[in-house]
Amino acid sequence: MELEQAMRERRSIRGFTDKPVTREVLEEVIEMANCAPSSMNTQPWHLHVLTGAPLEAVRNGNSARMLAGVPPEREIEDHGAYDGVHRERQIEIAKQLFAVMGIERHDKEMRQDWVMRGFRQFDAPVSIVVTFDRSLMGNGTIAHFDLGAVTYGLVLAAWSKGLGTVINGQGIMQSPVVREHAGIPDDEVILTCVALGWPDEEFAANSVRSHRRAVPNVARFVGFDES
Ligand SMILES: Cc1cc2nc3c(=O)[nH]c(=O)nc-3n(C[C@H](O)[C@H](O)[C@H](O)COP(=O)(O)O)c2cc1C
Repeated sequence: MELEQAMRERRSIRGFTDKPVTREVLEEVIEMANCAPSSMNTQPWHLHVLTGAPLEAVRNGNSARMLAGVPPEREIEDHGAYDGVHRERQIEIAKQLFAVMGIERHDKEMRQDWVMRGFRQFDAPVSIVVTFDRSLMGNGTIAHFDLGAVTYGLVLAAWSKGLGTVINGQGIMQSPVVREHAGIPDDEVILTCVALGWPDEEFAANSVRSHRRAVPNVARFVGFDES
């Protein structure tokens, strides 16, 4: 698949088939993602690829704690709720997803069901927990940038093989559960996870395309008009 096609067509996938994902294809995808750039070539990332019983234990533990009202326990600092244009974009994608899923604005039960799917990592057959070296933790760390690069690489590489993904902050909301069942070493910090599997073409939310600003609203060009 062409890079341009993958970049333009990729979207988050939140419904998966039961078809197993082989270790071989996952290794190919990770080998591609691992080509990501990083600050001074530090490559501070680690990918913990979960399936089967350990993933079920993470799913169940994360969901049970969220349902019981345990406050989210993530390992990186949280910016809090979004405001302004960021909030507007958050609402726009939520509306798009709820519309195709037939979830009415006031249907608390269905909305809760959707949120719980997120905590279950959308029942994906594979979850990749993305961590970085704890020695780089702290204000001013650039490791988050490096992990963004490798994670986007992962998502695009998966797409090029026909695999669907959603980067899934909800999946590590109760990070102690992830740490325990995934056996994350103490010298690593959990940043996020990526739910992955073969896309279920019948699952309505998978068709949603999120909107983007046009180039003039994103980029300024300086010095181009000078003769
Ligand atoms: C850091 C990060 C965390 C995310 N966490 C979630 C999540 O918890 N649940 C979810 O449904 N989508 C999550 N997403 C996916 C975004 O909602 C999605 O990328 C965005 O709406 C744009 O849609 P697209 O990926 O289809 O282009 C996350 C994406 C990123 C980059």
